[in-house]
This record gives sequence, structure tokens and C-alpha cells, in this order.
Amino acid sequence: MSIISKDIQKAVVLLNNEELVAIPTETVYGLAGNIFSEKAIQRIFETKKRPFFNPLIVHIPSIDRLNDIVAEVPQKAKLLAETFWPGSLTLVLKKHPKIPDLITAGKDTVAVRVPNHPTTLALLNQLNFPLAAPSANPFNNISPTKPEHVERYFKNDIKMVLDGGACKNGIESTIIGFDKGEPIIYRLGALALEDIEAIVGKVTVKNKKEQGPDAPGMLQKHYSPLTTTLLTSDVVKTVEQHPNKKIGLLTLSNSYQNKAVHSSIVLSTTNNLQEAASKLYDALHVLDHQKLDIIVVEKMPNVGLGKSMNDRLQRAAFQE
Ligand code: TXA
Ligand code: MG
Repeated sequence: MSIISKDIQKAVVLLNNEELVAIPTETVYGLAGNIFSEKAIQRIFETKKRPFFNPLIVHIPSIDRLNDIVAEVPQKAKLLAETFWPGSLTLVLKKHPKIPDLITAGKDTVAVRVPNHPTTLALLNQLNFPLAAPSANPFNNISPTKPEHVERYFKNDIKMVLDGGACKNGIESTIIGFDKGEPIIYRLGALALEDIEAIVGKVTVKNKKEQGPDAPGMLQKHYSPLTTTLLTSDVVKTVEQHPNKKIGLLTLSNSYQNKAVHSSIVLSTTNNLQEAASKLYDALHVLDHQKLDIIVVEKMPNVGLGKSMNDRLQRAAFQE
């Protein structure tokens, strides 16, 4: 029997009983539990096989609840939250003393956002606790953007995936921390850098391992398909270098025929980066299940959401 269901009341009951429920958001599906239940939070880490040093994002129903989660809100954080919530922006701020250490991995900061999905907002409004929810994938695997992706990963581990359809944005939230009140991007994501800079001016991006990540999830190899993945700006050349391989091809707008290319997915025929981002992970899930030798992925233009997509693709394609 499928664990996918649209029944919000059932999700409320499970979460009140300290169980986990996978929830839809506009970015990716999250594996959610009560932030105050040690049992639920432990289960999140176990289910994902996620190391305990990697902290979780807290999801709240509205900006009015921010002061329950954090101890202070810098001016620019307030401005960003007012502009972009509900939405794909996660703020890392000084934590409120009542936030459990397990959530923050012992850090004195906590990550928090208001997701922009009607089903999950309705759910959060019926609970008297916030939800911790990392992406609903095993550690290092591709994030889920459809309920079926979560079911495939966790059908033996959780009782329910709350069905909210395919995720509109399809790539994780943009994470911003603060240093002396100034914003720093820890993870590029579904909210474009340019949109953030239009509100608060130039921001520093500090999401590379060499620079010492403040978001421990920013490991160099991450978000990976199991199939060897090559990222290239010259698709034709890369395909021609592998004539004897069974290739899956993922491109932005132009497909390319070659006898080595077994299947091919185009993300947006109109070069729309929003559309491409929303389809990226689903395309990787699909290609990763076709028993291919390699996946060749075209590098996206380095602007707007293209930057966020390239960030994920570089991690997916990283070779040791
Ligand atoms: O779009 C999203 O953000 C999704 C949906 C479900 O909301 N969630 C998500 O969670 O992507 P997760 O756990 O897969 O990624 C959260 C990232 C991790 O890289 C973690 O290290 C970082 O947020 N993070 C969490 N708390 C932090 C903190 N206090 N300081 C720095 N980074 C933090
Ligand atoms: Mg994740």
C-alpha cells in the first residue's frame, strides 16, 4: 500500500505522536518531526543516515513566530524575512535558549524559514510546535521533488508522505547567515542571489569547502546520483569522448542526437531557468534509474537560478 496521502489530519495525528511525516514545500520535500521531541529528531537523523554534526532547519507557519525560535533579528534579516517569507529563504540566526541542541548540532545559531506551500502551511497552523525538516533523502542522495521520490527512498521507514504534488521551485532554499548584521550566503538556492541583493545590497557568498563552510551540509560531494555524472559546457565534445558508453543526457534547451545517447532530457525549451530548476532533480532521479554508464549534464548559464543549479551540479559531479 502506498504511504502517499493528502490527509492533513492524519499528518497532524502522526506528528503529535512524535512520528515522522514527509512534507511538501515549494523547494523540496522535507522529512519532518516535532522540534521538541527528542525521539522524532533522533529518528530524522537515523532515517536519513545523517551525521549528528549537521543541523536541521526549523519550519514555522509565519514570521510572527520568529521570536519563539531566535534570540535576535538583525535589521537586514528582518527586511529579508518580510520580503521573501513565505518562501525559499532560510535565515541562520542566534538561537532562542529553548531550541534543543540536537536541532542545531550544538551551535548557538538556528536555521529557520516559512515554507511557501499551502498544504504545509495548513499543517503547521494546526500544530502547537514547529517542524524540523531536512530534505527527505538519504544523506548525500538527490533531494526529492515529488512524493514518489520520497516513497522510493523511505517506504519502509516512515508511515506517511503528505502529498502536495511536484515542488514548484525544485531546488533547496537559499541559506543566509549574518556577521555583525551583514548577510552572508551559506548555500545558493531557489531564491536567486540577484533578488536578495536587490533588497539588501551586495552580499558575500561563502559556500565553498575551502572557505570553511558555516553550513556543514555544504560538503563537496553531495546531492549525487549513483551514476557517474559529468558536467560540461561542451555537450557534443563530452559525448563524443565516450562513444562506447551508454549515456544519459541532460541539457537546458537543445537536445543532441548521437548513437551513444540512450536517453535525453531537456529542462526548458525556452531557456527559462525557473522552469529548468524545477525539473532538475526529477530529471536526475529519472536518469539515475535507467542503468546508464554515465550522465552528461550541460552546465547552466551562470546567472540567477543557473548559479544555484551549477552549484548543485558541481557537487553531484565531483569525482574523488
Ligand atoms: O529548501 C530547504 O531548505 C529544504 C526544505 C525541506 O525546507 N530543507 C533542506 O534541509 O534543504 P537540509 O537539512 O537538507 O539542508 C539544510 C542545510 C544543511 O546544509 C545544514 O548544514 C544547514 O542547512 N544548516 C542548518 N542549521 C544551520 C546552522 N545553524 N548554521 C549553519 N547552517 C545550518
Ligand atoms: Mg539536504
